[in-house]
Amino acid sequence: MNYYTVTIAETGETYRCGDEENLLVGMERLGKKGIPVGCRGGGCGVCKVEILSGEVRKKVMSREYVSAEEEAAGKVLACRVLPTSDVRLRVLGKMQKNVCRPSVIPELATSGSGVAERISAGA
Ligand code: FES
Repeated sequence: MNYYTVTIAETGETYRCGDEENLLVGMERLGKKGIPVGCRGGGCGVCKVEILSGEVRKKVMSREYVSAEEEAAGKVLACRVLPTSDVRLRVLGKMQKNVCRPSVIPELATSGSGVAERISAGA
């Protein structure tokens, strides 16, 4: 596997990403809060990014999330593209990061307050 450097334009952060793994997998290794991670399979649009420079290999992407015009402008789903050169990208769709969030808030489930139990009981 060949590795390339991916730069996140907003923060200047970089990560290494292999040509057999998608841009989202590499981005997740940063372990950074705020990086949108959803279905990881092209089905939610949360991981939308804009390729500012560099070359990528694209897998099929749902037109529901990336129109032909957007794709032509470099907008892609990070979980559906693999780098074939160093890449510079901009993260889009940050506002959608709640889409794939679990429905029960973890703090409530562990607080012992009984709130989570009441929620799951439909109270
Ligand atoms: S993570 Fe859902 S489309 Fe990429």
